[in-house]
Amino acid sequence: VDLQPYNTLHISAVAQHFAAIKTPSHLKEVLNHPRAKENNLLVLGGGSNMLFTGDFNGLVLHIEIEGREVVKETQDNIWLKVGAGENWHQTVRYCVEQGWGGIENLSLIPGTVGAAPIQNIGAYGVELEEVFEELEAVNLVSGEKQRFNKADCQFGYRDSIFKNELKGQVIVTEVVLKLSKKPELNTSYGAIQTELEKREISKPTIKDISDIVIDIRNSKLPDPKEIGNAGSFFKNPIVDRSIFDQIKENYPQAPGYDMGNDKIKVPAGWLIEEAGWKGKAVGNTGTYRQQALVIVNHGGATGQEILALAKMIQASVAKEFKIDLVPEVNIIS
Ligand code: EPU
Repeated sequence: VDLQPYNTLHISAVAQHFAAIKTPSHLKEVLNHPRAKENNLLVLGGGSNMLFTGDFNGLVLHIEIEGREVVKETQDNIWLKVGAGENWHQTVRYCVEQGWGGIENLSLIPGTVGAAPIQNIGAYGVELEEVFEELEAVNLVSGEKQRFNKADCQFGYRDSIFKNELKGQVIVTEVVLKLSKKPELNTSYGAIQTELEKREISKPTIKDISDIVIDIRNSKLPDPKEIGNAGSFFKNPIVDRSIFDQIKENYPQAPGYDMGNDKIKVPAGWLIEEAGWKGKAVGNTGTYRQQALVIVNHGGATGQEILALAKMIQASVAKEFKIDLVPEVNIIS
């Protein structure tokens, strides 16, 4: 099976075996099959955070577990259980329509619900962990179901236990979100405030916020249906204040976000732009004109080409700023 339709960078890569997973019990069945035991496994959701650098010699499990169900309700909150294969953005819009708040700032993030906790997706001042209640997964070692509450997940900035200790060991099948029937909006992000003022909205609803986030994202980020990309390619580095102060000497305008403890988060997009890469095309790849942090496939790029560009960018940022950029996307070799 060619995985090109299954990854948003539109990289052609052949998977030796491929199984579409429809239910949690179907997943257990497939995992008990000798083919699963004999092969390398790769779990694929929306493929929006994956770079294939070659063919995949193993079994791809494409998670297509559907369903949304209210599992608990109080006066103030709703607990919504969602199948891991559901589209994230459609789930956001469903909640917005119901008047359930908490994930409106996470509108239009590509990918599936099951992938959301793996990297603790975040945007416009909100991270998944803020609405996360628990998840159900299948453990690949024991073959048994396993539940993880919020503390178990060890969430961090674009990080969780599933990218560290438990990497490759569990497959998320369902996620429970705790949403609010009396939403408190997060309008801390400058661009949201600007849009609210421009639109003369003084009492925003969650739908207003969702609509604004959609417009902001559309203006900055390429639509993967049109231009292959995986969103931010690198994480925003968090550096010691001393490093940031050095940068400031040469670049007084350098943006930085104080994280406390003498740590500063520096936008990787700015570093890449200053290193001269914004909008630059290299063969079939390049960075996006409006957002240097996004690497794009202009058509026909191979995973190796994209990886080579990422390495060139890392080298120039390291040379100019003494900062090592760490990829946010999963590089599958
Ligand atoms: N900037 C530049 N040049 C660029 C891009 C950015 O100078 O080409 C600077 C500007 O100073 C800008 C700042 O970087 O103000 C921040 O840019 P932006 O608001 O676009 O956000 P980001 O830090 O680049 C992060 C997330 C995005 C998320 C946005 C909005 C990471 C790695 N990325 O990007 O998440 O949508 O904030 O909250 O944390 C993703 O993870 O795939 C993703 C798209």
